[in-house]
Amino acid sequence: MMHHRNIFQNILKVSLFLLFIVTSHEIVSAEGGPCKDYGDCDEFKYSLNDIDSLQRGASTYINYCYGCHSLQYSRWGRVAQDLEIPEDIFFENLVFDKSIKSGDLMTGAMPEESATWFGVEPPDLTLVSRYKGDDWIYSYLRAYYEDSSKQYGVNNLVYPGTAMPNVLLSLQGNQRLVCKDIPKIAKNGGEKRDNDGNPIMIEKCGFLEVQEGTGSLSKEEFDKLIYDLTNFLVYVGEPIKATRERIGWYVVFYFLIFTALSSLLYREFKKDYKK
Ligand code: HEC
Repeated sequence: MMHHRNIFQNILKVSLFLLFIVTSHEIVSAEGGPCKDYGDCDEFKYSLNDIDSLQRGASTYINYCYGCHSLQYSRWGRVAQDLEIPEDIFFENLVFDKSIKSGDLMTGAMPEESATWFGVEPPDLTLVSRYKGDDWIYSYLRAYYEDSSKQYGVNNLVYPGTAMPNVLLSLQGNQRLVCKDIPKIAKNGGEKRDNDGNPIMIEKCGFLEVQEGTGSLSKEEFDKLIYDLTNFLVYVGEPIKATRERIGWYVVFYFLIFTALSSLLYREFKKDYKK
């Protein structure tokens, strides 16, 4: 008798513990979510069959990021092949060190002693889309703003105090935190109005805004550049992903047909039993 009660109590404890894990995760993500001062991360939908996007992303990566961040689990030749870039064109345009061979790992272009330059060693980014998430990367790279109190004159809403300088500043332009007058929202969700029917405005701060004429790309062009770059990092994090998802669909399709056929067969067999 005692024995059974112990088992029951243990099951109860485990269930409560699991419930705690689930709910405590909810609480953590509600306050100070993964994108910190930015609020919710912007949603990112990868498109790994868009080879043009991946090619543009690879080119941006090698030109602007590879100098600091290796992709040490990828090989040059594999990337060229997956992105359908003929190897001679790939090597001529994207591989600056002429001693590199197709089978070499992308171990980076940083000299050894550089770890101390930023106080933090720039991490390898092969798997960054897996541990940070693509939403996070997409938001992070667009959330730099001017902050003269920081070492490089910039800070980041998604990663406050980041040791990485804003390497894309000349493309995006100088982004700053600005205040705006926005309509005050009443409890019922509508705009609050004064007696004359005009909306009541309040000042809110913390909006990102690019200083006009300071960047070489428009906002849409810059967002697209970061889209392609993030897309490339998703590909690098799991080069087989596009194939895996395609096979997944075949499998689902196969099961649907198989289920239909076996249910037809079942009906045939059932007829024999009825006789
Ligand atoms: C001048 C060197 C440098 C360049 C160039 C550079 N980064 Fe960084 N990056 C860093 C450093 C240093 C960190 C570590 C920041 C920290 O942890 O405070 C970092 C961190 C990151 C992180 C966060 C990784 C993590 O695990 O937290 C991402 C993502 C990232 N960089 C992406 C990029 C991309 C994409 C580019 C190209 C557009 C780029 N970086 C160019 C130096 C650089």
